[in-house]
Amino acid sequence: MPITHPFLLYGATGYTGRLLARAASERGLRPILCARDEPRLAAMASELGLEYRVARLEAGLDEALRGVQVVLHAAGPFSSTCRPMVDACLRAGAHYLDLSGEVAAIEGVFQRGAEARQRGVMLMPGVGFDVVPSDCLALHLSRQVRGARRLVLGISGLEMISRGSFRTLAEGAGQSILIRRGGRILEVVPGSLQRELDFGSGPRTSLAMSWGDVSTAYYSTGIQDIEVYCDAIPALWMMVMANRWFGGLLASDVGRLGLEFQARALPDGPTPEQRAGRQGVIVAEVEDAAGRRLRGRLRTPEAYTFSCTTALALVERVLAGDLEVGAQTPARVYGPDFVLSFPDVFREEF
Ligand SMILES: NC(=O)c1ccc[n+]([C@@H]2O[C@H](COP(=O)([O-])OP(=O)(O)OC[C@H]3O[C@@H](n4cnc5c(N)ncnc54)[C@H](OP(=O)(O)O)[C@@H]3O)[C@@H](O)[C@H]2O)c1
Repeated sequence: MPITHPFLLYGATGYTGRLLARAASERGLRPILCARDEPRLAAMASELGLEYRVARLEAGLDEALRGVQVVLHAAGPFSSTCRPMVDACLRAGAHYLDLSGEVAAIEGVFQRGAEARQRGVMLMPGVGFDVVPSDCLALHLSRQVRGARRLVLGISGLEMISRGSFRTLAEGAGQSILIRRGGRILEVVPGSLQRELDFGSGPRTSLAMSWGDVSTAYYSTGIQDIEVYCDAIPALWMMVMANRWFGGLLASDVGRLGLEFQARALPDGPTPEQRAGRQGVIVAEVEDAAGRRLRGRLRTPEAYTFSCTTALALVERVLAGDLEVGAQTPARVYGPDFVLSFPDVFREEF
């Protein structure tokens, strides 16, 4: 029997939103499609045979959320879109899931945890590739290392990103890289933290990045020191180094205009052919006070495809009443093996 309880997909007209809408339909879910651009939304809804509601984040969200049990928020960058949607979900008593991987936005959600508990609502940011697999791997390893103090995560498989993800990364222009030390979030100079990580074919130079787990892994594992690195493919290397040396310029009005110009020149995201057969790889290393280490590696399907899989599986869990109120991480609520419930996901320790 398909689940017919209402869930609302916000940002449905975006690249990831469109993938999610299609994948949801294929799973027998009936999302209410929601975004701010009526003509595009109406065309999509008619093609997929789904209901739609038009709402801007600034106006109309309360009407859009009427009768809605779960919101899947896919409109980013989340630095500006997250708060109004969390506010609206708390007012409406709707559970909130999002595809954010932005440290500050996720931290902002965790600050609303007490309010969410009072309202009987679950807030779960990071239900996509960032952070579901890394969150699960971190919790899996940390449970085997008594007194784990340090977590290093590595991400590979981001060779092709969507225009929206590029815009989200570009928001980091002129900003430091975020890591966690002693439980607190600290800033370091872009490019200053590098290390070799083995994603399965030998050591690869990787660069520290502001990635969602700097926030979420702390809540999932309690580990105080967290760094996340990304495989330093040439495009990423250039982006990080440009930010290191010309961050001020890139963050200026002219610089931002240039980055937006660059974003517009990009395709909206990888095509189905480009996504097919690719994979994501996450590595993690957990260390205790005595320097004892445990390493693990997780292979997943391609990042955007897998984001849809994990996000929709989580929506289904929530619609079925399987949730914990408050601000939550995927692995904390659904366990470290949640990620293994999907096809083509493999975990190993080394
Ligand atoms: N965590 C993960 O693993 C993961 C996976 C995939 C994507 N993401 C993130 O998800 C976000 C979307 O990615 P995408 O590739 O779908 O980008 P996209 O194609 O640019 O789509 C962005 C969507 O957000 C909407 N939007 C943006 N700002 C808005 C605002 N202020 N008010 C209302 N709607 C707004 C856009 O509406 P309009 O079309 O009307 O502008 C569009 O529907 C990015 O931040 C990306 O990094 C994360």
